[in-house]
This record gives sequence, structure tokens and C-alpha cells, in this order.
Amino acid sequence: MKTALTRRYIEAIPDTLLQEPLNFIFADHYRQRVVCTLLEELADAEALDAGKAEEVVDFLANDMARHVRDEEEDLFPLLRRRCASEDEIEAILDQLAGEHTADERLGRDLVVALGALSAAGTAPRIRPKVRQKMLDFARRQRRHLMVENNIVLPIARTRLGGADLARLARRMAVRRGVVMAVAEGG
Ligand SMILES: [Fe+2]
Ligand SMILES: [Fe+2]
Repeated sequence: MKTALTRRYIEAIPDTLLQEPLNFIFADHYRQRVVCTLLEELADAEALDAGKAEEVVDFLANDMARHVRDEEEDLFPLLRRRCASEDEIEAILDQLAGEHTADERLGRDLVVALGALSAAGTAPRIRPKVRQKMLDFARRQRRHLMVENNIVLPIARTRLGGADLARLARRMAVRRGVVMAVAEGG
């Protein structure tokens, strides 16, 4: 989870929090809200803040992509296995997975567009289409995060057992190249 870029705006999550994988995901959601705010600031700024743009691009291309894999490859499949039909979570997970696909595409577009603006030293506000994509991404992300924080994570806290959480923690640690002893839960 180390990045070559020194970040000023987006804080790193301590590796030790991987031992509480649902809290790690919650912390990642907090960072994603920070990125939404940074995108809105970049969209409306008179002049390009290249450092801020670079940090957002780095986050979208690396941290954000890993987070979506945490959910798509590990958290959501675990929830589909453990939740009862009365939880009514299948439709919600399908909706969120659809949003992941669409937002990853939008995120990739932003990485390319912001990279080009940074190289040219051009502020996004003079590129209306790029600016609109930035604002759309922030708005969509905030709605997505609200569903995950208010519905998905609370259900995960009640339905996933110790062994599920240990498996989730191991998989997330491997994805970040973090070597850690994760206690097997019962
Ligand atoms: Fe998420
Ligand atoms: Fe998500």
C-alpha cells in the first residue's frame, strides 16, 4: 500500500487496521469522501493545483482500484454467502457492483484527463466536459458511499463471523503486499 508519491491531502491507513477489515473499509470510505472534495476543489479552481491533481490521480489509479477489488472479490461474495434472504441485500449488491463498473470507467477517464491537464498546466474549469465528469464522479461516489456505510457495512458486522473476517483481512493484506499475522477467529 506504499506509494512513491508523498501525499499532503489523503492520509494513509495504518496497516494494523487490516486486522479489523470492516473498519479498514470504513476508513477507506472516509478517504474517498476526501477525494470527492478534492475533485470539487480542482473542478472549480482558477488555476491548476498540480500537486493536488497528481495526488487524486494516484489515489484513483491505485487505492481506489484496490478498494473496489476488496469489495467485489471478497466482501460482496462473503455477504452473498452469509446473508439471509430477509436481509434483502442481493439487489443492493447488484446495484453497487454496477456502479463499480461504471465508476471505474469514469475514474479511468479522469486519470487520463487530469494527467493531461497536469502536464499542460491547465485548470479543469476551462475544460467543461472534464470538469463535469469530475463533479459527476464526486456526486456518484457520495451516494455509493452512503449505501455502503449505512446498509452494507452494518449488515456485514452482524452477518460475518470471525473466520470470515480473518479471511477478508488476509486477502486485503495480500492485495496490499502487507505481511501480517491475522488471528483466526471462530
Ligand atoms: Fe466501498
Ligand atoms: Fe463500493
